[in-house]
Amino acid sequence: MKKQQVMTILRPVQDPFIHKRFVETDAIKLVEVDETTGKVTIELALSQLNQPENDRLKKELTNKLIQAGASDVAIHFTQLPEEQLKKYPQYQVMMSPLLNGEAKTTFLAIASGKGGVGKSTITANLAANLARLGKKVGIIDADIYGFSIPHMMGVTKKPTLQGNKIIPVEAHGVKIMSMDFFVEGNDPVIWRGPRLGKMLNSFFIEVDWGELDYLLLDLPPGTGDMALNVHTTLPTSKEIIVTTPHETAAHVASRAGKMARNTNHEIVGVVENMSYFESQTTHEREYIFGKGGGEWLAKELTAPLLAEIPLGQPNNDNTGSIYAKDEVIGKIYYQMAEVVINEIENK
Ligand SMILES: Nc1ncnc2c1ncn2[C@@H]1O[C@H](COP(=O)(O)OP(=O)(O)OP(=O)(O)O)[C@@H](O)[C@H]1O
Ligand SMILES: [Mg+2]
Repeated sequence: MKKQQVMTILRPVQDPFIHKRFVETDAIKLVEVDETTGKVTIELALSQLNQPENDRLKKELTNKLIQAGASDVAIHFTQLPEEQLKKYPQYQVMMSPLLNGEAKTTFLAIASGKGGVGKSTITANLAANLARLGKKVGIIDADIYGFSIPHMMGVTKKPTLQGNKIIPVEAHGVKIMSMDFFVEGNDPVIWRGPRLGKMLNSFFIEVDWGELDYLLLDLPPGTGDMALNVHTTLPTSKEIIVTTPHETAAHVASRAGKMARNTNHEIVGVVENMSYFESQTTHEREYIFGKGGGEWLAKELTAPLLAEIPLGQPNNDNTGSIYAKDEVIGKIYYQMAEVVINEIENK
């Protein structure tokens, strides 16, 4: 085995936390090949030490090198210096108070396959009910083009600045951050790829969230760029998958569920929205969009069905899309928040 072969194997590999290739982060400190014994010795500087990801990396590299002809492999990890790390926004995100490992915040992304199934409504109401149950809650409206959380939660204020930190707006006991706050009027946003990622990063780096038990992320529909960004930025996020009772919606939602699985995001459960319409006078239920989508999806993803939410608007116009605690749908959301807490904290 030649040194050049070792370099070819190392070159495309990324630092497990800042997601930059070793050649970019200047991580490859030593590569030695003993030509007589075939032993390979490597020293790599990583952004974080003593992490399970590092063991995985060591195993993966060892396998590759053995396959390529090494007789024995020794890999040593050292700490990448701070000055080097500071250059990467990913590192700043990683070191932000909610993500640096000291906070006990649970990240919870609300995803679906199809648009318009009620992700944002569910995010807003789940957040409000987690807050009603005494939890400290925040929402990141990660739907950069289709932001709707502030409007749904009846927010008209803009966030303020304290020093160089943005203080999120609070409504229904929930701290909110959205692109809505940074565009003039209701103009469409035309950002793509890298700028999208930057926006999500700055929601972590530049916002003073304080202490949070739960940070909910309202994702745009489908399995696009932003969903992937959330997956790589928040490797430990959990997910709720939303569907309607219709077969097609459930089928498309299963793809979002599988994307979560592929990126090691644990699925907390499935919510079926627009399940039925119940007449207020006869209490008869009509299954307008069909039946069984939520149950099917829960089975498909081996996750619990957290709630079935009927059709109906909140009674009070002033609160946007938030149902009051004593309304039929408000009670369903309250119970769902209890189930979510139980699933996450007691399992
Ligand atoms: N249970 C419900 N009963 C009646 N209307 C509902 C219900 N859930 C959601 N809606 C309405 O359906 C529309 C779509 O909901 P929402 O915006 O929450 O979906 P979404 O999945 O976030 O959509 P998008 O994919 O566009 O982000 C909204 O007008 C909302 O008020
Ligand atoms: Mg939405």
